[in-house]
Amino acid sequence: MNIALLGLGTVGSGVVELLQLNQTHISQAIGEQLTITHVYVNNVNKERSVDLTGITVTDNIETIYESDIDLVIEVMGGIEGTRDIIAKFLTKGIHVVTANKDMLAAHIDELSQIANQHSVTLAYEASTAGGIPVIRGIQTGLNSNRINQVLGILNGTSNYILTRMSQDGWDYQTALTKAQELGYAEADPTNDVEGYDAQRKILLLSRLAYNKSLNLEDVSVRGISRIEVQDLAQAAQAGYTMKLLGTSRLNEADNSVSINVEPVLLASSHQLAHVNDAMNSVFVKGNGVGEAMFYGPGAGGLATASAVVSDVMNIATQSQHFNFLPTEKARVVADTTAKAYYIR
Ligand code: HSE
Repeated sequence: MNIALLGLGTVGSGVVELLQLNQTHISQAIGEQLTITHVYVNNVNKERSVDLTGITVTDNIETIYESDIDLVIEVMGGIEGTRDIIAKFLTKGIHVVTANKDMLAAHIDELSQIANQHSVTLAYEASTAGGIPVIRGIQTGLNSNRINQVLGILNGTSNYILTRMSQDGWDYQTALTKAQELGYAEADPTNDVEGYDAQRKILLLSRLAYNKSLNLEDVSVRGISRIEVQDLAQAAQAGYTMKLLGTSRLNEADNSVSINVEPVLLASSHQLAHVNDAMNSVFVKGNGVGEAMFYGPGAGGLATASAVVSDVMNIATQSQHFNFLPTEKARVVADTTAKAYYIR
């Protein structure tokens, strides 16, 4: 399978590295070789940390359109322009794997439809909760359930910041700078700390879980940028730990959905209170399984690349390409239940 990689930042470099590291294992697992033939970047002269021997590196997207590829990995970010590029590849019968939650949150239904029309797959495991296979977990592992709740820590950067502030007394800015150095944060970390990154992720999970289309405006958001060390210290004294949670619920009585992102005080004995640093964790409640919990690295180059490459491997072994499309638009209502700010 010939692959074009769009973007060579933290995740793109992780993808190149992982494919090189596990080359033999991967080709044995799927019975064929995955080869990156092209990489599309903004700056072809920039020094790179990964070995690009034998790969055509270009800043001209036309070169990629004209090349003989089977699949595109999109890890460059951007919304409208990137949507157009992805739509064009899908229309040409080329599979797309993307980690781009910002673009997906705005365009996933439309792009899934295009993918279905052209019998190709649009896969996006890496868009949500980094290396944790939670998209696949909901879409295939739990698809026999009627899911009525999804809740979790979905942003590694803000969880890293809250962890360092509460455990080590770091100030907010120091913790954010370190999260950026570690490669957890988005290019503009506003999305991380103001909750917009988690907003996209809870939208994508809820869409799958409840079989409903959702818009960004459906998900109310509050971030962590105004939290101070003393707030966390006071919470700890009272037996609580603050976490930025994305939560959504299907209200069985009227089939409406309540969905939001906000800092929540968890009883320190709660499992999510022990999810630290850039780890993510997602609880899913289904009427068969009961409560299932996913846990793992929510950010970072190799961890996110793990999800990207597993999407590519799945596509390589699929004989049919079906993309989930919700059957109705969600009716969204404010959360009036007692979640408030304290969860035990
Ligand atoms: N900036 C994101 C985070 C990366 O911190 O979780 C993974 O989506």
